[in-house]
Amino acid sequence: MKPLGIILLAAGLGKRMMSDLPKVLHHLGGRPLILYPLRIAQSLEPQRVVIVVGNGAEGVRQLCGDDGITWVTQQEQLGTGHAVLCARDVFFDFRGDLLILSGDVPLITRTSLAELLRHHSEQNRIVTLMTASVERPAGYGRVLRDSSGGVVGIVEDRDATGPQSVIKEVNVGIYAVSPRFLFSALDGLSNRNQQGEYYLPDIVGIASRKGEGVGTVQVEDTREILGINTREELALMERNLQESVNQRWMESGVTLKDPRTTYIEEGVLIGKDTIIGPNTHLLGRTVVGERCLIDGSAYVMDTRLGNGVRLKFSVVLTECELDEMVEIGPFAHLRPGTVLKRNVHVGCFVEVKNSLIGEETKANHLAYIGDATLGKGTNIGAGTITCNYDGFEKHRTTIGDRVQVGSSTQLVAPVVVGDDAYIGAGSTITQDVPSGALALSRVAQKNVVGWVQRFRERHNKKQ
Ligand code: UD1
Ligand code: CA
Repeated sequence: MKPLGIILLAAGLGKRMMSDLPKVLHHLGGRPLILYPLRIAQSLEPQRVVIVVGNGAEGVRQLCGDDGITWVTQQEQLGTGHAVLCARDVFFDFRGDLLILSGDVPLITRTSLAELLRHHSEQNRIVTLMTASVERPAGYGRVLRDSSGGVVGIVEDRDATGPQSVIKEVNVGIYAVSPRFLFSALDGLSNRNQQGEYYLPDIVGIASRKGEGVGTVQVEDTREILGINTREELALMERNLQESVNQRWMESGVTLKDPRTTYIEEGVLIGKDTIIGPNTHLLGRTVVGERCLIDGSAYVMDTRLGNGVRLKFSVVLTECELDEMVEIGPFAHLRPGTVLKRNVHVGCFVEVKNSLIGEETKANHLAYIGDATLGKGTNIGAGTITCNYDGFEKHRTTIGDRVQVGSSTQLVAPVVVGDDAYIGAGSTITQDVPSGALALSRVAQKNVVGWVQRFRERHNKKQ
């Protein structure tokens, strides 16, 4: 096999996105567009990878990192042909095959690219074009063939006339080329066309006019070749991606009550017999165990749910670890660093952050637990708050096993509550509580008998 060089085009303005953000930084399935072709490009083990950037170059660079990538800047966006020409210096001594990819065609597979390269080298071509046959060719360059079926050129959508515009075979925007031919052909490009741009696809016509046969490899699954040029196309592709991911999960034994509103990012794992209700987002590196029940309206990011976890309606979880049989919600917010051991219950309007909660412990109503360590079998009464922040630093609250924290308690950290302690409702705990002690900090109750009648009489006299 010849060495492989890859040019990834990502300098376009993305005008049709109407955005300040470079098009290739828009997200699909939770990842910026450019990472799709880049990851596949890298999996082909190329000797050189060039990314051509222009608009928003710094952001693209920061995202992709410098690992094995040569960055080339296209100062002015004069078209795809001009963009490739900007990479000439990197490849002037290169003797291998070149693969040109578009940053806005994210779903192309490694298999299709490998097939393109195999065909290109077996047939010993100077250019091999990836094509697809689509029902709605609008927006794509059309592949022009002569009467014997040989490719003679590509005409861009906006330059296509009459019979050309009904051609359904389109240019995917991905090419295998010999570098020597490529750069000499690019030197001869003209920009006399509707867009006043130097078109990369024009190299196809140049090869044909030189009497060289142009290779083509047709991609069967047209979902792979879709390019993103508008937000509508982005939304459609998001939907397609979501549908295929959801289908895969259903096939592997996960119930999705409403697949249309279930968003599962690539990379998420789900155990079988888990049931997922509507409007659920499982994102990032989330792992869901077997037999979990997610009622619906759940936003779960980078979180691990053990087997049999129940997420009641409407919860937000970010960077948490939940052991088996934990129950959350409804309406709970678990923030980064939350670790809940087996059978913990966290209920309605409870927020937990950076805290470890031991087995069987319950905080069922209206509580804030931040920077805390809670033991096993403890009960946190309604309205309990860990006061963890003094305006400068965060402090820890430590609560032992089998503790009863009465309702509406404030725990002013740093503070330690020993095992088996009781805290009377309405207490403000500012000192450690020894094991087995009852802590009370509220004022003793006083009943003033007959006070109401006297008060009313005084009031009435004034009127
Ligand atoms: C391009 C092809 C078209 C093909 C379609 C497939 C051209 C002229 N047309 O059209 O035949 O059917 O892709 O999706 O190539 N770019 C630059 N610098 C530029 C212009 C573009 O780097 O000056 C980059 C863009 O960032 C993008 C890629 O090249 O990643 C394609 O550009 P785009 O403007 O989207 O081309 P299309 O009109 O989609
Ligand atoms: Ca495009």
